[in-house]
Amino acid sequence: MRAWLLPLLLLAACKPGGTSPSGGDASPGRDAARDEPGAADASALGALDGAALYSSLCAVCHGADGTGYRADNAPSLVNRTFLESATDEQLHRSIRDGRPGTAMAAYGTARGGPLDDKAIARIVTWIRGHGPAPMTIPPRAVGDAARGAPLFAANCERCHGTAKARGNAVHLANPRFLESASDPFIGWAIAHGRPGTPMEAWQGRLTDAQIDDVVAYVRALGKPPVAETLPAPTGKEPIVINPGGKAPTFKPRSTPCAPKVPCTPDERFVPVDQVKQALDEKRRIVIIDTRPPSDWMRVHIAGAVSIPYHDLKRLDEVPNDGTWVIAYCACPHHLSGEVVDALRKRGVKHAAILDEGIFEWQRRGYPIVAAPGVEPPQGLFPPNGAGSAPGTPAKH
Ligand code: HEC
Ligand code: HEC
Repeated sequence: MRAWLLPLLLLAACKPGGTSPSGGDASPGRDAARDEPGAADASALGALDGAALYSSLCAVCHGADGTGYRADNAPSLVNRTFLESATDEQLHRSIRDGRPGTAMAAYGTARGGPLDDKAIARIVTWIRGHGPAPMTIPPRAVGDAARGAPLFAANCERCHGTAKARGNAVHLANPRFLESASDPFIGWAIAHGRPGTPMEAWQGRLTDAQIDDVVAYVRALGKPPVAETLPAPTGKEPIVINPGGKAPTFKPRSTPCAPKVPCTPDERFVPVDQVKQALDEKRRIVIIDTRPPSDWMRVHIAGAVSIPYHDLKRLDEVPNDGTWVIAYCACPHHLSGEVVDALRKRGVKHAAILDEGIFEWQRRGYPIVAAPGVEPPQGLFPPNGAGSAPGTPAKH
């Protein structure tokens, strides 16, 4: 396939203190690549060590040190009780297959992502280096899902959501989660919690039998089949939608300036309804899907071209003649923000972020291209998003 290049100058550009590597001298795995997300140059992913891969692809959400919550409520990957109970196989599958319908894309080449098995194994080794080795977790008794249901509703739903809606914490109903997580792993997490996070230890507050029942209930959440995917992007999809159309008249919003702090408003967010209207009116526009191609292959905005944050080659084809460019992700602002920064560095002035991201677009029933079986994501649970799990989705 095509070479997966790391356009890392710009990843570095939007982090405070990020260096902008100047020449082609950044060798994979040098120290800067460990400390600063993306501070390596455009070498093929295949050549990077686990630390460099992690910092360029994962740190943006899971944090430079793996402790999570940098963006999109991405969980910690290095918590003691997580690493002692998760197998390497489970870590590998989580990275390869992702969690469709959440911000966690599938990174495996087999699913349209950028990483082959060896590259994923190097990241797993890097993660492992930050915590304990896996232990043998004792098997659990078989519980009763019907008895577990009210326990889950009373104690877990406010953070973990329901079968259909993600809460602020890891979505346990995700079929890919359930494929890779064993009953002992789930039971261990419930019994011992995740120290230092809002996930408390339930041992002592629920009996062992009740924990077994909750495990059985979580297991039963994952019945919906995994959707198929669309063909991978060819790299030949047209960049411009409605090439002969007039320019849209967007009114982007900016993030409000903090009180008393001097700042120039940066009008970079265009709401979904304005973009939908531009499509209805056949306006000339470029829409960029900035997620890994595996996500584009599940569902994308009709006409959107796949230019993932980790492979910006096709940005060269984006016309710099005043055409509006809208970048989006699931997040809604992280990956798209990086691509907008990259476009602006190239002098493309009319580049903006789709404010609410693709999930809201999909929820409103706006035009998409989706693989068979992909359902619109349900809202956050609870509907106003006010959970007590860490942070609200980061905005910038
Ligand atoms: C755009 C944000 C984002 C990026 C980039 C990202 N992740 Fe994730 N990741 C998440 C979220 C969110 C979850 C939890 C999924 C859910 O909502 O249920 C997750 C879950 C995981 C899990 C499962 C953790 C668990 O507790 O079960 C692993 C392992 C993981 N990610 C590793 C990675 C690695 C390695 C990379 C880089 C190759 C990466 N992620 C890139 C957001 C991200
Ligand atoms: C206050 C919010 C909150 C509540 C209540 C809560 N959890 Fe969690 N849970 C979390 C968070 C946050 C994490 C991820 C922590 C991390 O980053 O390591 C988590 C992690 C987990 C995991 C591990 C997932 C993985 O992939 O590593 C399981 C399983 C789990 N919770 C089950 C439950 C069950 C069952 C209940 C109810 C008995 C429950 N939780 C109650 C917030 C919560």
